[in-house]
Amino acid sequence: MENKSLLKINNMYKWFDATQALKGVDLEIQGGQIHGLIGENGSGKSTITSIIAGVKMPTEGRMFFKGQPWEPSSMASAFDCGVSMILQEANTIPGCTVAENLYAGHISKFRKYGFLDSRKMVRKASEKLADFGVSHIDAAGLVDQYGFEDRKVVEIVRSLSSSTELLIIDETTTALSHEGRKMLYSIMHKMKEEGKAVIFISHDIDEIIEHCTNLTVLRDGEITGHLSYEDLQKDDAIERIRFLMVGRDIGDAYYREDYDSSHEEEIALEFKDVSVSGVKNFNLQLHKGEIIGFGGLSGSGMHEIGRAAFGLEKLASGKVIRNEQIIKSPHDAIRGSIGYISKDRDVEALILSGDVRDNIALPSLDGLSRFSFIHPSKEKELVEAEIESLNIKCYSGKQLVGTLSGGNKQKVSFAKWTANDSDVIVMDCPTRGVDVGVKQSMYAFIAEMKKQGKAVLMISEELPELIGMSDRIFIMKDDKVQKIFERHPDLKESDLIEYMI
Ligand SMILES: Nc1ncnc2c1ncn2[C@@H]1O[C@H](COP(=O)(O)OP(=O)(O)OP(=O)(O)O)[C@@H](O)[C@H]1O
Ligand SMILES: [Mg+2]
Repeated sequence: MENKSLLKINNMYKWFDATQALKGVDLEIQGGQIHGLIGENGSGKSTITSIIAGVKMPTEGRMFFKGQPWEPSSMASAFDCGVSMILQEANTIPGCTVAENLYAGHISKFRKYGFLDSRKMVRKASEKLADFGVSHIDAAGLVDQYGFEDRKVVEIVRSLSSSTELLIIDETTTALSHEGRKMLYSIMHKMKEEGKAVIFISHDIDEIIEHCTNLTVLRDGEITGHLSYEDLQKDDAIERIRFLMVGRDIGDAYYREDYDSSHEEEIALEFKDVSVSGVKNFNLQLHKGEIIGFGGLSGSGMHEIGRAAFGLEKLASGKVIRNEQIIKSPHDAIRGSIGYISKDRDVEALILSGDVRDNIALPSLDGLSRFSFIHPSKEKELVEAEIESLNIKCYSGKQLVGTLSGGNKQKVSFAKWTANDSDVIVMDCPTRGVDVGVKQSMYAFIAEMKKQGKAVLMISEELPELIGMSDRIFIMKDDKVQKIFERHPDLKESDLIEYMI
């Protein structure tokens, strides 16, 4: 059966002031495709897909959907015509219920004689969640009560209706738990089977090879190559994709190469009988020069442990101790030279309306100031060094963080703590949404921290990164540590998964 052309883009350009995000892109999406889109941070993936989904307007270029000119004026109008998108950034409306979020932009469906039939809306929303096998989210409850990963699930459910023909998934998997990922993959494959199409953006090449029917690679706003299904199955696929993305061979040195898990005697951070959320009487000693990894499914308690380490959670009992001081708030943590990279970067880690410079320098202001006077040249120097070492794509330190691409925001949230030279860094999914080249620099940086006697607590859903970087890995399930693995060259993902599920 010949696949029909669903969407066509001709010669598309997009400028944001002086930044040229797209430079003459041509693309065709056919029914029955799970069409992968990959490229370095800032290469234009979200820009193209936001234009398709009616979120942004192109500067130049034409689009056709099912043979007709396609000029959606908003996300809601694109949705009504069968094109929807799960945005890279968090996109639920706080202060509203799950049901209101599911029907945002379409609430009028539930209006009768001017009154809103909320009960009907909640009932329909519950049915919709159930259709996707989501039973733990209450349609009548406020969306705010759910964690970042569950809010993303709400967005996924919202993005689909029976008339959806083209679904765009922008770097969503890294925001999800393992269960959420499984749900997303099954939605993608179902759409493919039904002759509909998916555009799937991800930085994870293995994930792309496993799920996509074909792939388009972007670099600096231009398409550098297409790979067919057959190309993706070849042995050199990974190498070829990386080359098309970065224009050079980035090599295989990725994770730590040593298997030396020794560390100093001194304790850098200690949990003493900590009970937080569902976790009971948790004990941990993180030493100087040690990298401890935490893996598990969402709801396993691992994210809460990370939050507690930075004073973000109120403990039911026990203490988190650093240098004999008890950590009760982020303020205590920062004073104790603890940094924290949050999984929910837009809410907890970044000031989106602030510029790159202010965001990076914020935790370092004490060190940069004298009698409350901040030394501007020192601040500039510090920030510029971070922009360079993490290759943050911005026109200058003055660019607002809210206008950076997703991966570049993540780099800023990482740079905040490297800039202030924290002695302990708690990282919750530190490489979320960053491209392979930058991941490589982040891993090198983490390995260097160990060498300098700093301590790292790395919480991650990416098992290869846990195995590749940690001295010890704690696997959590049901709020308990099920198993501790020591660093070893033979350790495999399947060994870890066995204790997670
Ligand atoms: N509103 C905006 N104002 C200014 N520049 C912008 C804006 N939105 C995007 N850009 C710029 O356009 C370029 C492309 O960004 P885009 O978000 O499409 O990248 P991406 O490929 O999705 O990257 P990532 O993998 O990091 O998500 C970047 O240089 C970004 O800084
Ligand atoms: Mg993006």
